Amino acid sequence: MLVFPAFILSSCINAYFFNGLPLKQDNKGTLSITSDDPVFDLLEKKWVSSFYFDRGMKYKRTRLKVVSLSNLLKRYNLDINLDAILLRCADDYEGIISINDVKHYDIQVALKVELAEEDIRPDWLKPLLIVVPNHSKPPFSERFFTANINELRFVRLADYYAPLEIFGLKNISAKFGLDIFKNNCLFCHSINKVGGNKGSSLVSAFNLNLDREKQRFRDRFIEKHGASNSSQNMSQFLVKGQFDSLLAFLREVSINNT
Ligand code: HEC
Repeated sequence: MLVFPAFILSSCINAYFFNGLPLKQDNKGTLSITSDDPVFDLLEKKWVSSFYFDRGMKYKRTRLKVVSLSNLLKRYNLDINLDAILLRCADDYEGIISINDVKHYDIQVALKVELAEEDIRPDWLKPLLIVVPNHSKPPFSERFFTANINELRFVRLADYYAPLEIFGLKNISAKFGLDIFKNNCLFCHSINKVGGNKGSSLVSAFNLNLDREKQRFRDRFIEKHGASNSSQNMSQFLVKGQFDSLLAFLREVSINNT
């Protein structure tokens, strides 16, 4: 008689795992995992360092308690058309990471972040946090620094970026600028309702047809995101010439929006 309840219990647990865990679904059918989901308790955890993270933050020896994002995905039977994870954050930041990148760069998610004593923690530096492990080398960009995540939503990359494809960008520099913007800026400066709203709309704040406005944009960028701003240093992600492409892109967007 004692065997019976034990049998039921173990068969339930198996069904739970082998058929994939249930995911939350909203009324539009979007599937998501919140940061308090029990799945995080089930995954193997490791304490690691991340040269990539320390480099971006100018920190030394940060310790991060992580789970593997690929291992998390293996728990679910996801539709293969869902090829990206939208990272909804507590502070109007909106990250996005493709499932290809998750696999290719073995992206981890930190549940705890311990800084070296002398390092200062900005208010946004809270788990969940995207972490690049030391054995992988993605391009250095803001994309891999998403923090304060409270929900992971499964989306289609093409749908997500569709409102940015309507500009019909003519020049090569502007097209290149779109990619730079997607990798570094869109997370806080949304365009056509894509992206986060931690920062303002850059297209409405500057009239980039005018040379003096281009200069004002540069000055404000250095002021807000220059190397002296350790917690929001975006200039570190831009190599020579990329700034001009960003401006060319934003200029075409503003021509299209007027
Ligand atoms: C982590 C969020 C975040 C990211 C990522 C980010 N910004 Fe910002 N940015 C802000 C905030 C916050 C401000 C200050 C509020 C405002 O004016 O938007 C700001 C201000 C600015 C300003 C001055 C705006 C003004 O009206 O004077 C410029 C220019 C700017 N950002 C450009 C960029 C560019 C270009 C990128 C990408 C290379 C970028 N930002 C990435 C958050 C961000």
